[in-house]
Amino acid sequence: MTTHAQELDRYRSQNKKSREYYDRAEKILPLGVSSNFRTYEPYPIYIERAQGSKMWDVDGREYTDFSMTFGALMVGHAHPVMVKALGEAAGQGTLYGMPHDREIRAAELIGERFLLEQVRFTNSGSESTMHALRLARAFTGRDKVLKFEGGYHGGHDTVLVSVKPPKAKVGSQRHPKPLPVGHGIPDGSVENTLVAQWNDIESVRAILQRNENEVAAVILEPVMMNVGVMPPRDGFIQELRVLCDEYGTLLIFDEVKTGAKLAWGGAQEWFKVKADMVCLAKAIGGGLPLGAFGASREIMNEIAQHRSFHAGTYASNPLATTACKVALESILVKDAFVKTRKLGDALAEGHAKILKKHGLPYCAVNVGSNGTVFWRKTPPTNYREWLDQDFDMFWRYWHMNLNRGVIPQAQCYDEQWTVSVQHTEKDVDHMLAVFDEICREIA
Ligand SMILES: Cc1ncc(COP(=O)(O)O)c(C=O)c1O
Repeated sequence: MTTHAQELDRYRSQNKKSREYYDRAEKILPLGVSSNFRTYEPYPIYIERAQGSKMWDVDGREYTDFSMTFGALMVGHAHPVMVKALGEAAGQGTLYGMPHDREIRAAELIGERFLLEQVRFTNSGSESTMHALRLARAFTGRDKVLKFEGGYHGGHDTVLVSVKPPKAKVGSQRHPKPLPVGHGIPDGSVENTLVAQWNDIESVRAILQRNENEVAAVILEPVMMNVGVMPPRDGFIQELRVLCDEYGTLLIFDEVKTGAKLAWGGAQEWFKVKADMVCLAKAIGGGLPLGAFGASREIMNEIAQHRSFHAGTYASNPLATTACKVALESILVKDAFVKTRKLGDALAEGHAKILKKHGLPYCAVNVGSNGTVFWRKTPPTNYREWLDQDFDMFWRYWHMNLNRGVIPQAQCYDEQWTVSVQHTEKDVDHMLAVFDEICREIA
């Protein structure tokens, strides 16, 4: 049996060049990275290149990648169709500051797939939720928004509330206390963000009742994917739709992770519920920084009438909208979701079988191509249950995977694996063989 300390020694000895990169990076980049989510102990591996389902680091080690950049790369790495299209597009100029054909086509494709009459482009998921929430406020004339405890919707003040609040401070189950993430978020901003309990419709009802005519929107990830993979209980999304209509509150699906990933048409297709607004990023960009938000023409008219602000130098960048067009038109087609779902189910079933075989008290959950292991006996149904896990076990699993050439999911226990269109049964077998070895070691 190898202990976690021994695995960390192995990690250090296998990743000496990454250590050199880290020492250099850490002098100029806080934590040696450009996004806090990329850091982990003792230091991250630094990547040299990627292709298909694989990545190679600066030490020359190969990894089967199931992070796929936090789920953004549903098209997989360096898809040949994408590489060719981007090469050609780059030669035609990378930024115009003027409208162009590719943004029109990309918007049409998004509109058709996500049932949106009108769309505007952004450069990231954070920008999409920020603009969508402002637009919802402008349209309804209300200031407050409601989110769920444990939900992540990007890096702006309105939604940096109760993302991973400490257990001791969360307040009551039905009326969670809104808590800012870190310092620098004004109290005035937090006051306008209400927090409800996931999967508890009475929690939502009570908050909407108490703040009648004040809540512009309910924003949610239809499957919460910043606490592993936490689907709604049966009927929850449908009940939210009814409540929002009752209170004149807009229902916003943050489909940054679920859009063009959970299903061809994202969560609206999966749950058969129509949202008032949809926020997109990750998969629609085909690997380039692109976000979008959309709604009915009536709602988007707030932008057309210059009542709600939306603009951006890089919005609808020709390269990113080319990538979007190629991804949606040629790669993330309906059949792709049949294949990735099948592999996603095989991964989760395989994990569950292996856990059972070794008598380990953990469980595996997936929704389509997204899945994870929870380090507790049963799948959690809200953030508070999710907190009740053996997170140390996750880090042991994480380092053991990396030492054996697998990136099992995005870094950290709150993430999940992604099966892209370029993953194969062989990749699934590889991950399961490594998981079997890991479980044998920890059992
Ligand atoms: C559900 C959700 N919304 C918004 C965001 C923010 O997206 P970005 O990192 O592109 O700003 C993320 C990022 O992971 C996300 O998972």
